[in-house]
Amino acid sequence: MSIKDRTESVWEQVQLPYFDSIKNNQKTEICIVGGGITGVSIAYEMALRGYKVMLVEAFRIGSGQTGRTTAHLTCQLEEQFLELLKMHDEETVRVFYEAHRKAIDLIEENILKENISCDFKRLDGYLFQGTNFNQEKMWKEVEAARKCGAELEYIETVPLLNDELPGLCFKNQAQFNPLKYISGLIKAIRKMDVTIYEGTHIQDMRQEDRENWILLTDSGYQINAHQLIVATNTPVNNRFHIHTRQSAYRTYAMSFKVTSPSTENCLLWDTEDPYHYIRFVDGALVVGGEDHRTGQAPDHDPFALLETWARQKFSFITEVIHKWSGQVFEPMDQIGFIGRNPGLEKNVYISTGESGLGMTSAAIASKIIPDLIENNTHPWAAVFDPTRPLGSGLKDFVIENLNVARQYTDWITPSEVTSLDEIPVDGGGLIREGVTKTCFYHDADHFEKKSAVCTHLGGIVHWNDIEKTWDCPCHGSRFNTKGKVIEGPSLSDLMEK
Ligand SMILES: Cc1cc2nc3c(=O)[nH]c(=O)nc-3n(C[C@H](O)[C@H](O)[C@H](O)COP(=O)(O)OP(=O)(O)OC[C@H]3O[C@@H](n4cnc5c(N)ncnc54)[C@H](O)[C@@H]3O)c2cc1C
Ligand code: FES
Repeated sequence: MSIKDRTESVWEQVQLPYFDSIKNNQKTEICIVGGGITGVSIAYEMALRGYKVMLVEAFRIGSGQTGRTTAHLTCQLEEQFLELLKMHDEETVRVFYEAHRKAIDLIEENILKENISCDFKRLDGYLFQGTNFNQEKMWKEVEAARKCGAELEYIETVPLLNDELPGLCFKNQAQFNPLKYISGLIKAIRKMDVTIYEGTHIQDMRQEDRENWILLTDSGYQINAHQLIVATNTPVNNRFHIHTRQSAYRTYAMSFKVTSPSTENCLLWDTEDPYHYIRFVDGALVVGGEDHRTGQAPDHDPFALLETWARQKFSFITEVIHKWSGQVFEPMDQIGFIGRNPGLEKNVYISTGESGLGMTSAAIASKIIPDLIENNTHPWAAVFDPTRPLGSGLKDFVIENLNVARQYTDWITPSEVTSLDEIPVDGGGLIREGVTKTCFYHDADHFEKKSAVCTHLGGIVHWNDIEKTWDCPCHGSRFNTKGKVIEGPSLSDLMEK
């Protein structure tokens, strides 16, 4: 079972090496916080360039969203080109597309250089027409994509689907096993003397002076670093700025046995909002989708909807093998934030807002951030700049932040349950106690009781019955049944009551 979440993804049988937690104060040139694909990819690049690097992970390497992804490697951007061109000029979208295209090559180069066996395969990707598109709009999408330099073809009938649906074919996309890939990079960085700590949660980061950083761990040790790179999926160093520019979403995935091995191996996505994403893993079909804002769960069961949709679309699937969920951060203008952290502090970098493109974004970050550190410039840096103005993403900024503001009305709403008897074993519920709320988790023989006030900016957490966690609807912080923080932006646990 995952150490943070209750469900298990298709990858979690991959064994990664274990590393000790920090046992004394340490000093390094570069400290990277977060041992997912982003942190590991940047550590690899910085070590190749000869820097003294330390990688610090709160739980286990790969235990974040990198272990819960579906690992399509694609430059078919998550939002259609038509939508992107409403928010950005042609040149920006061209660079965004080109960066993701080159990122697939970068990953392939690393695999070849380090001889990593991670089931990497080049294959075609198809965007197929959902109920929100018609043929005319598909053709407009072709035009928009070509204007931005994308290579694609219009296809009358997309493979694998029951329905005869048109779509767009993007050649030369790829897929791989993300945990086997980072395992290969870890092997390489160990040979280059990168120090790796697991079980080491950073609870505070502050500037020692104008040039250097001090990081404090839960266990009371200190790391002094010249450069700090925060690769924690959503930045835990940044209290406001980035969290008003991206939103946390839960997304769901399932794998199905198939009646016979497919002759056509490809990647698929549709144009729906939220969209569905499909690929094969070890012969099983993996289908994802049903995204919703974190901590704002819909009334229906997302897995039931996903399964119904999958059975309508694919006649060759049989029983369900895996079901799991994960968290993605959607930037309001659709482009991730990679580069210098907004604010006055020096020598601190972030990579976040990767949405469903986190694999390629990690490769992009592994080029932009080292180049910014060394030369203060990279050709893609302006497009991904975390300090950029939002431009036409402003409308979404207002809508999404009004949604956050509405979540604070939970402070005055009544209890979810009137007595503890209503909370089933292995379930959770909120009870009003005075001016605030308390969350109760029903363990086998007792109740775990904590303040329901999120330690980031005071949202009221909600029970996530699928992963058995307390999730904050404001910016996506998550806590386990004992109130321990398992995902930022919060850095500390729920308070005792
Ligand atoms: C179901 C699903 C499907 C997806 N499909 C795709 C896809 O097909 N293609 C694609 O490109 N992307 C996809 N994504 C997105 C992609 O998986 C993520 O964007 C990517 O894995 C993020 O990697 P990361 O290294 O930035 O973050 P993570 O893998 O989450 O790693 C961050 C690490 O930081 C650690 N950390 C956090 N706080 C601290 C702290 N205070 N101290 C120390 N360590 C800390 C965490 O424990 C974690 O291990 C999908 C995501 C999901 C959930
Ligand atoms: S995550 Fe920001 S208030 Fe909870």
